[in-house]
Amino acid sequence: MYEQVSHALLNDILDDLSHQVVREDLRHFYTRLGANFYAIHSLFAHLYGHREDFKERITELTERLARAYIARPEPLRRLDMEREENHNWFLSQEWTGMALYLDGFAGDLQGLMQRLPYLQELGVNMVHVMPILRCPLGASDGGYAVSDFRDIDPRAGTVEDVRSLGEAMRARGMLLTLDVVVNHTSNEHDWAQRARNGDKTYQDFYYVFPNRDVPDMFEETLPEIFPETAPGNFTWDADMGKWVMTVFNTYQWDLNYSNPAVFIEMLDIVLFWANQGADILRLDAVAFLWKKIGTTSQNEREAHLILQMMKDCCQVVAPGTLFIAEAIVAPSEIIKYFGEDAVIAKECEIAYNATFMALLWDAVATKNAKLLSQGIKSLPVKLDRATWLNYVRCHDDIGLGFDDADIRACDYDPYAHRRFLVDWFTGSFEGSPARGRPFGVNHKTGDARIAGALASLAGLDAALDSGDQTAIDHSVALILTLHGMILSFGGIPLIWYGDEVGTLNDCSFLDDVNKAGDARWIHRPRIDWNRVERRREQGTVEQRIFDGLKRLIAVRKNTPAFADFNNRELIDAGNPHIFAFLRTHPSMPGSSVLVAANFDVTPQYLDLDAPAYRGLFRGGQIQDLVSGDSPALLNNRVVIPPYHFYWLADQRARSLL
Ligand code: GLC
Ligand code: GLC
Repeated sequence: MYEQVSHALLNDILDDLSHQVVREDLRHFYTRLGANFYAIHSLFAHLYGHREDFKERITELTERLARAYIARPEPLRRLDMEREENHNWFLSQEWTGMALYLDGFAGDLQGLMQRLPYLQELGVNMVHVMPILRCPLGASDGGYAVSDFRDIDPRAGTVEDVRSLGEAMRARGMLLTLDVVVNHTSNEHDWAQRARNGDKTYQDFYYVFPNRDVPDMFEETLPEIFPETAPGNFTWDADMGKWVMTVFNTYQWDLNYSNPAVFIEMLDIVLFWANQGADILRLDAVAFLWKKIGTTSQNEREAHLILQMMKDCCQVVAPGTLFIAEAIVAPSEIIKYFGEDAVIAKECEIAYNATFMALLWDAVATKNAKLLSQGIKSLPVKLDRATWLNYVRCHDDIGLGFDDADIRACDYDPYAHRRFLVDWFTGSFEGSPARGRPFGVNHKTGDARIAGALASLAGLDAALDSGDQTAIDHSVALILTLHGMILSFGGIPLIWYGDEVGTLNDCSFLDDVNKAGDARWIHRPRIDWNRVERRREQGTVEQRIFDGLKRLIAVRKNTPAFADFNNRELIDAGNPHIFAFLRTHPSMPGSSVLVAANFDVTPQYLDLDAPAYRGLFRGGQIQDLVSGDSPALLNNRVVIPPYHFYWLADQRARSLL
């Protein structure tokens, strides 16, 4: 029934389009629209079918798709076709990413252009440039409060600069990732301004209420994202004389996707940035896209339908463009942002692996891999043609969103264990060398998260202050081990800028009124390029970390087993301090690499006779791919030094690859 209706409608729309739109070769567009229209129509009907303007709206949506297709530059259309042919291209081990704040890293877009050789020196070939759209001059949540979705912040450059950057990166074989902040706008956005001036059409773009009745009902079940700086989820707007929903900061107004006009506008913006040359779009805060009284308004089914619809529409116009889901939610929920009950991704192809990130930090604090192994064991298998974004640190805090059942399975009490982790990383636990700060402390619920630079959380600050060489060595080893994990786990590793030279906490944010209340700024540094120069001086911390990381990235690129085809087997190393897994390329049996990391402060043994990988190194010469040497062996047991890791392969099998 749907199918017939949607076909008739599609014909009407196409008829309409052929009159309106400039004549152009639209063959590919028609083919892709035909292939996706049934899904788009069903999803749109699901969300908006009850509305009188349904037909008008879906017609408008289809027209926008046609216009976006026509606007798509020829080189990008060619790239679409190449990627359609080689549709698993992004699962390859060849990609390594870095995320950065433009101002802190390079000043502006032209500055970033100058820094591309530096990124290539390290081996980075995917760059996530954090938000650079027009935003309020004061507090803007690091650009996540957008005032104009089609214009660049003049401090960063121009839209033309973005296009040039995209072209320059493509020429160097690098991928450009940009944000689309789909969940909210800043209160300075034109839509918000119109809403404030009483325009009903634009008030319907947001969740606006005349009194506290509905907000109070919502508040009963809504958690607080920033309890210290933005308690509650609604803000009184005096100009409008109404309450508006603001789940994040008071100046970030949540968009109302139950209004199809909002979906159409935001989709158009997604396609606009795809057309400016972004290879990957990071969709911010996707878990929050649908609000419902009586729920936490996160991970609602409709949020998934919206993302599916965005993906299907993007397949029509810009099928080479990938989406990253930023959904920092429970492990069992994150995986759904690839798409539920599907084989290949039907929402976002890439998702932040927040689970792995937080588990790695658990191993650091506890010096054992119990919860890490347990949590990874419970991590659902991802879909085909979908991959993780694996990271150790990013611009946000570290949330301790483990599954309570996993914590209990390790014989810890969930509340006490999380408490311990916060104490450890903020340095208040006796013996902890970590120097993080608490973030998002909620006295009502007892929740807390952690802010801090990777190196400072890994004890480098404290070690350098004390001048204790062993402590410095341990810290450097730990920093490299954490990176060694995200580079071999399966997925795209995403390095946080500055971590490649062990950048420490940056407390200068305390002097800026617009930042002082938000401890996440402690790990959003302004890069000191003189310090970065020290990467060339043998023996400096900067050189050891930079060269170590550079080597890891180079080895990763040469190791087909590290491509992401659900080809990871968790290994019980029989030693709680060791986290181990086996990677094997599905079509290259001899390609296996055993990844093993020791999170303890003392050397640990890895028993090569363990049943899980007995025979793996039979007769061959065991080699650590990182150093190229054979590791120390004692009675067929590998000795892993404190905070070290190995990528172990059978040298003979590898030489046959
Ligand atoms: C995302 C961003 C975070 C921001 C929030 C609101 O979670 O990662 O930095 O505060 O969205 O936009
Ligand atoms: C919460 C949100 C996440 C956001 C973070 C910012 O964890 O779920 O989206 O990045 O807060 O602190």
